[in-house]
Amino acid sequence: MNHDDLNHWSKRAADWASDYHRNLRNRPVRAPLLPGAIARQLPATAPDAPEPMEAIFADFERIVPPGMTHWQHPRFFAYFPANAAPASMLAEQLANAMACQGMLWQTSPAATEIEQVMVGWLRGALGLPAGFVGTIHDSATTATLSAILTMREQALGFQSNISGMHGKVLRIYASAQTHSSVDKAVRVAGIGQDNLVKVATDDSFSMRPDALDAAIRADLALGMLPAGVVLCAGGTSIGAFDRIGDCIAVAKAHGLPVHVDAAWAGSAMICPEFRALWAGIEGADSIVFNPHKWLGVQFDCAIQFLRDPGPQVKTLGLRPSYLETAGREEIVNFNEWTVPLGRRFRALKLWFTLRAYGLDGLRARIRNHVQWAQASCTALAALPGVKIITQPILSLYTFALADDAQTERLLHRINDDGRIYLTQTLHEGRYVIRVQVGQFDCTQADVMMIAQVVAELIGD
Ligand SMILES: Cc1ncc(COP(=O)(O)O)c(C=O)c1O
Repeated sequence: MNHDDLNHWSKRAADWASDYHRNLRNRPVRAPLLPGAIARQLPATAPDAPEPMEAIFADFERIVPPGMTHWQHPRFFAYFPANAAPASMLAEQLANAMACQGMLWQTSPAATEIEQVMVGWLRGALGLPAGFVGTIHDSATTATLSAILTMREQALGFQSNISGMHGKVLRIYASAQTHSSVDKAVRVAGIGQDNLVKVATDDSFSMRPDALDAAIRADLALGMLPAGVVLCAGGTSIGAFDRIGDCIAVAKAHGLPVHVDAAWAGSAMICPEFRALWAGIEGADSIVFNPHKWLGVQFDCAIQFLRDPGPQVKTLGLRPSYLETAGREEIVNFNEWTVPLGRRFRALKLWFTLRAYGLDGLRARIRNHVQWAQASCTALAALPGVKIITQPILSLYTFALADDAQTERLLHRINDDGRIYLTQTLHEGRYVIRVQVGQFDCTQADVMMIAQVVAELIGD
């Protein structure tokens, strides 16, 4: 296969993609398969001789789509959808064609500079104050890991990268509503799961600022080293928001840096009416949100805003001679802001998406999703036997039947049925079903089908 063949097959792939998207509603959202069903269809070893693309493409059509859970299905209400608006897909195709590696400014000047401008556009769109800069990571997990590694280095005077932690016990504070990426980060950073203090929450499942203060003081009294606070702006489980401003005030009183995880809910802040949910955000040192969730920018694309990139670059930046850019020592090389060296050109899809839909178009989608989530919650609440466990926070709510076993059986029936896709969480020890509205192409009718499907399957 050469570039002339690629031209032909790209057109064929574009036709296939257009049919796929047009007919998505006719497919079950979740792959109706048992483990091993796909692997069994592939030979055990790689071919020695080249194979014709016709055969490869035919196998793709036969094996892959039926083996997929369809993330772009308009009735995907699980997790948070990883959206891919058509304009962002187009940008990804162009980025793929150039297949650059944007580790340094000089390895792809446009990738670095468009990234800087896009971070600025999004800072303004979310209503964050001038002064925040930032970068694009693959995932919120990497952004949170970068922030926690930076907290570790700051707490230890930037010495632990060099000489280790010398038995120092660092403490990071977060509520139990934060995502498991925070747990992973403290593990990977060598701080240790036991040193992630899960601070008590109030009736709204928001971190209690007085409990945060008490936890920090107790650790100081024991000679431990508080290193930073991670706040939750839209938890994955039920959408909890910490009281951002109040908790930041406590952290600042103790001189601690604050990272805010707004992975899915952050996009909603392009609508000014939702910003009260994260009031005080301007005091954060680091904020992550995923345009690959609610802004429709194809996975992967996580933005980390930083009040001052200095400590993170000091923590993660390495400049061996083979990565130097002679005569331009001050230039921004984004690999120094993150964990991996190699970087894809992710800014291009942001540029295309923000221009093709405009902030107004994206705001309209988010507002619709919030409104339709509320309407579907009301419809579900009217069904006999259904109890709403947590009310909608933006576009996320949870419900359950009388006991865990019944709720779990209902969830299996829903997902085997395939018209909609929902997932579960544990809330206060109870098995509940999450409903998260956020798919880029979903309509009101798609969202209202949730109550219809539950009504049909509840009694089975
Ligand atoms: C609140 C929150 N934080 C972090 C993550 C992890 O995101 P990523 O897959 O980008 O690492 C998620 C994923 O859904 C999330 O909802």
